[in-house]
Amino acid sequence: MKILVTGGTGYIGSHTVVELFSAGYDVIAVDDFSNSDPKILDQIEKITGKKPAFKQLDLCNEQEVIAFAKENQDIDGIIHFAASKAVGESVQNPLKYYRNNFYGLINILTAFNSKIKLVFSSSCTVYGQPDTLPVNENAPVKKAESPYGNTKQIAEEILQETCAVSPDLNVIVLRYFNPVGAHKSALIGELPIGVPQNLVPFITQSAIGKRGPITVFGDDYNTPDGSAVRDYIHVVDLAKAHVSAIKRLEKGDTANYEVFNVGTGKGSSVLEIINAFETSTGEKLNYTIGARREGDVEQTYGDVKLSNEVLGWKAELDLNEMMSSAWNWEKYLKDNPF
Ligand code: UD1
Repeated sequence: MKILVTGGTGYIGSHTVVELFSAGYDVIAVDDFSNSDPKILDQIEKITGKKPAFKQLDLCNEQEVIAFAKENQDIDGIIHFAASKAVGESVQNPLKYYRNNFYGLINILTAFNSKIKLVFSSSCTVYGQPDTLPVNENAPVKKAESPYGNTKQIAEEILQETCAVSPDLNVIVLRYFNPVGAHKSALIGELPIGVPQNLVPFITQSAIGKRGPITVFGDDYNTPDGSAVRDYIHVVDLAKAHVSAIKRLEKGDTANYEVFNVGTGKGSSVLEIINAFETSTGEKLNYTIGARREGDVEQTYGDVKLSNEVLGWKAELDLNEMMSSAWNWEKYLKDNPF
């Protein structure tokens, strides 16, 4: 089985390439390096002993994607990560988000004639603030808080509607909760551009002295300690969920459009994450309490029964491993800047 990984040098993409190799798949990766670094390919080789076949490709260029598909007719499945993902930037520059996130997906479906097995990266953001927790896959999709969130909702609709008229298109949509952490080798991890907007990269950069104190966005939520609650999942567990999704598509006896939550099922507050980081690394963090961040939901965590039962996948790594691996990666980056 040969799998195309779009966004293969990105944060989740690179970890997934590693897990695909260890599960015995052939991999071809594409990326435009807009939010990643070519050196990640060498890092993957250091971990696995194998370098994925690779092409630098702008997925928004329809002709290039069609030519790529013609040259690579042995591709059996696609994991489509390549997309823009910064919530704040999407508010400032919505067209960038609608262009990148839709053109890429549509060009792939077009180039492969809607005859392909495809795993799509979606997000728990589609649920907004869920009415009941843990939130399961049947919960209503709420009006998106940002253009980024909107691209995920509409991309799901594009896939569902295309599947309805394409018997040879098989799609699994994975709705991720909050991916954090890094590979245990500390050779790959997240490479945020500029000031990290996400909690864990901000924590690791603050701890290493690259940033000032952390601001906890709100301590007046209706949660046990007042700070907002999320379902943090180790990026390696998330990567493995993609391998399980590919295996399910390979078996071929599935409905042609399926949706799964990918999380741990457990909610943790911002203050609990700060505490978990301090406990698992021995580093002391400086933080202050600030105002709520616009657009943030109070709490969300996933019902992961369906992915556990149907995909045969379960998150295995705990907060301790999430925090210590994220910290080891930050320390590696200090000595080996990209
Ligand atoms: C957001 C998006 C999610 C997207 C993810 C990665 C929403 C609802 N969620 O997740 O779809 O996949 O980013 O781009 O749009 N926090 C602080 N201080 C900080 C940073 C964060 O207190 O300096 C808090 C936030 O308020 C939040 C939690 O930490 O409660 C997690 O924030 P973050 O890592 O940014 O992820 P989400 O906002 O949950």
